[in-house]
Amino acid sequence: MSMSGDELFAAGRFDEAMAAYRRVLAQDPGNAEARMGLDAILERARTTQPNAGLRELLLQAYADEGANWDAVGWGAANQIVVGWPHDNDLLKLAADPLLLEFLKKSLNRDAALERKLLALRRAAAEALLATDAPPPEVVALAEALAEQAWLNEYVWPDDATVPDGPASAMFRPSAAPRAEVVEERRLASEIPEIAPIVDAVSQSVAAMYEANPYPRWTHLARRPMVDVRAALMRDFPHAQTVDFGSGPLQVLMPGAGTGQHPLTVASSYANAQVTGVDLSRASLAYGKRMAGRYGIDNIEFLRGDILDLSKLGRTFDHAECVGVLHHMADPRAGLLAIVSVLRPGAFLRLGLYGESARSIVVKARRDIEAARLPSTLDGLREFRRKVMTGEWRRLRALTDWEDFWSASLLRDLCFHVQEHRFTVSRVRSLLEGSGLKFLGFEFNVGASQRADAGAGPLALYASRFRNEPTLSDLASWEQLEREKSGLFPGYAFVCQKE
Ligand SMILES: C[S@@+](CC[C@H](N)C(=O)[O-])C[C@H]1O[C@@H](n2cnc3c(N)ncnc32)[C@H](O)[C@@H]1O
Repeated sequence: MSMSGDELFAAGRFDEAMAAYRRVLAQDPGNAEARMGLDAILERARTTQPNAGLRELLLQAYADEGANWDAVGWGAANQIVVGWPHDNDLLKLAADPLLLEFLKKSLNRDAALERKLLALRRAAAEALLATDAPPPEVVALAEALAEQAWLNEYVWPDDATVPDGPASAMFRPSAAPRAEVVEERRLASEIPEIAPIVDAVSQSVAAMYEANPYPRWTHLARRPMVDVRAALMRDFPHAQTVDFGSGPLQVLMPGAGTGQHPLTVASSYANAQVTGVDLSRASLAYGKRMAGRYGIDNIEFLRGDILDLSKLGRTFDHAECVGVLHHMADPRAGLLAIVSVLRPGAFLRLGLYGESARSIVVKARRDIEAARLPSTLDGLREFRRKVMTGEWRRLRALTDWEDFWSASLLRDLCFHVQEHRFTVSRVRSLLEGSGLKFLGFEFNVGASQRADAGAGPLALYASRFRNEPTLSDLASWEQLEREKSGLFPGYAFVCQKE
């Protein structure tokens, strides 16, 4: 029997996997598994010379609303860089459909490409300012660059010599708000509130995310439908089986942010009813607008503090809380508040910052504080300038982080008003006496990391602690972390309420 795309992918046979995914998509263009698999290959695809076949596949991905444009942006950036004309010819570049699609749909995360794009932006501005009737290709390129500026929230440097007018949208927001911003302001006022925010740290965290909702995202990638409890029972067979009946699975998403994760859950978890809670109305309004755009109606958004969840007066069958608890004054108080609204047997998926993985962020936070850089757009731009020009060389590796590349991402990464970082030992203390049973760490979640499945920390644990088939003893993980630095990029794990 021939191997599936996923099997070929897991075996590292990427060319054959790509062919298998393409065959499936040719028969069934809406197939989510094949789309995810192909996108994961396009994400990794790197060549030193332009590759016409890859460019074609990337353009097809950009033409598919269900593709993962975040992922394929990596492969597209590579093709754009290796195909960049030596003479930097504006008209040639303006006629490149892949460049235009990339600028409109993927956030650039490549330092070399950013330098080229800044020069291109300058050239496009000069061309626009030189005549009342610029070539239509240049107008289209300027529109695409303006869209990229919107995606990165104007974190690229401004240029005061470009006056407000047709070229300035590539440099700074226009005075008239975009339609989606107007819609979000209206939606924000309609979001019900659990209770007023009174905790001092929650108030300052709320203010931060009101100004910079995290993350700005543009489309929802297609995902296969999944019965999440059955999938977790398969991954963690030592979990307790509990039957919640046939009604919709009540899913809580504390710290819902701008809705990307909650809407993925609402649209891909079978028979789920999702409740997203967050401090930031602006973030929730973003999520609500996107829910409307995708016609997702099995979700509600509530403004409130995790600390006040019990005031909802209801319980949940499942919860996912990623990138949130480490921003609370007392993460354990937040955890206990979540546990208090879970039904026994409910799964809770958590994601927390790691101390060792973030050592460079700790250095950045110190330097930012010493230089008194404010968390305003100007402060963020100045920080990027120092890092990217090498003035702050020791922080250069921050450009390898996905969150370096837009204002809200960078503010969240390096300018946060509150952050805790964990080790396995701190995860253990966090969970002790919480009423949760630790089921296991998750690595390689999602298509983009499939190629690493089977290797890495779980395999290491299995060979090191052969008599622990559940891979879930935190004391052993603690030991492994001591023995092998860099084991955890952060802590993603699943627990079950006892
Ligand atoms: C880094 S963002 C993560 C958003 C989302 N979970 C994701 O993964 O994209 C952190 C979010 O947690 C929210 N948050 C932080 N503390 C909170 C609290 N005490 N109660 C509710 N939401 C909180 C923030 O407002 C922000 O939207």
